[in-house]
Amino acid sequence: MTTRVLTGITTTGTPHLGNYVGAIRPAIAASRQPGVESFFFLADYHALIKCDEPARIERSRLEIAATWLAAGLDTERVFFYRQSDIPEIPELTWLLTCVTPKGLMNRAHAYKAAADANQAAGEDIDAGVTMGLFSYPILMAADILMFNAHQVPVGRDQVQHLEMARDIAARFNHLFGHGREHFVLPEVVVDEQVATLPGLDGRKMSKSYDNTIPLFEGGAKGLQAAIARIVTDSKLPGEPKDPDSAHLVTIHDAFADAAERAQLRADLKAGLGWGEAKQRVGERLERDIAPMRARYEELIAHPARIEEALMEGARKARAIAAPFLVQLREAVGLRRMTAALSASGEKPAAAKTRPPEFKQYREADGRFYFKLLAGDGRLLLQSEGFASGKEAGQSVARLKREGAAALATLAASRAEGVGAAEVATALAALMAEE
Ligand code: TRP
Repeated sequence: MTTRVLTGITTTGTPHLGNYVGAIRPAIAASRQPGVESFFFLADYHALIKCDEPARIERSRLEIAATWLAAGLDTERVFFYRQSDIPEIPELTWLLTCVTPKGLMNRAHAYKAAADANQAAGEDIDAGVTMGLFSYPILMAADILMFNAHQVPVGRDQVQHLEMARDIAARFNHLFGHGREHFVLPEVVVDEQVATLPGLDGRKMSKSYDNTIPLFEGGAKGLQAAIARIVTDSKLPGEPKDPDSAHLVTIHDAFADAAERAQLRADLKAGLGWGEAKQRVGERLERDIAPMRARYEELIAHPARIEEALMEGARKARAIAAPFLVQLREAVGLRRMTAALSASGEKPAAAKTRPPEFKQYREADGRFYFKLLAGDGRLLLQSEGFASGKEAGQSVARLKREGAAALATLAASRAEGVGAAEVATALAALMAEE
């Protein structure tokens, strides 16, 4: 069985060297493992909670997407998309909001910190707190549960959010499962192996400490200039230095192989000057970063390529999300009126009738067609004419494989009076059969 790994990146800033070493590089490496299906997305709805500057949101989405692509993300292999391109996520957020106890949200760290600060300042405890901030964990739960992720790699500060996602999932399963587990309970993965990279002053590299080293910003010059500002002790060239207390060495080691690490250590002990050491570190980093920077600049200059990759990612993600949401809507009672309710409130009687089916045929015009019929024989979908039977067959195969999401790019339309949800349900039933 494949393991689904999912993580979101809030789009409020520009990636720096610490983000690359601590998050981007390990995530991309993990996505290449066999047996892993990775979902990486730009959490731009989450960004709106923290930032009300549209230009910054826009710029950050572009830079973060370009960075992940330039760093070698294989979009054929992984799901890479924007949260805001998946309308099923906010819809699921509402279904989950309706089963989330308010008391659970009251205990969320981010909200509690704001409330406590207000109280200490003698303000109303909710001063300046938006419903977005308050409900942040529910949106995050929807991100994860929408794709039934098994594992969610995050930083320590997000562990509580994962616990909440599990609580919410379990509650939904309990209320609406009728013996069926709609949601997988996601596991949190906090990677202790991946050391957090120190910044210029030796504290954790972070924008809030103003000690970051840029990844691509400012080009090779910007990188070298930042490395030159890394704080060291004041030992002079010729004096032996302690490599283990120098965060310059830690930064070097994040890129160097074993032999290079040993060499720098030995040279520092033998008196290598900090200036020369920084130059060596700069060259070592540049070797890894230069090819990525070239790809990054190329992408930033052609945003349409990034847009295309993300839209393709959204299409793939929605092929999973759309039919699953139909199932969840059904579970809470948002069903077709035509489906007669059984007394027990379980499956509508209509679902027990014959399954929907595809029919392929040729018209007098010589062209090839297909249609999708409901179990009761009603027309749901009608294709346009194809030049060959093979083309018609391929479209049917795609619909069976990808469900309603494939409709966006297929020559077929819904019959008069038939809703999108009914078509999606029918396709989901056929997908389950495949
Ligand atoms: N809240 C996460 C952060 O700030 C970002 C995020 C949003 C996320 N949705 C997610 C992470 C879903 C993992 C899974 O880092």
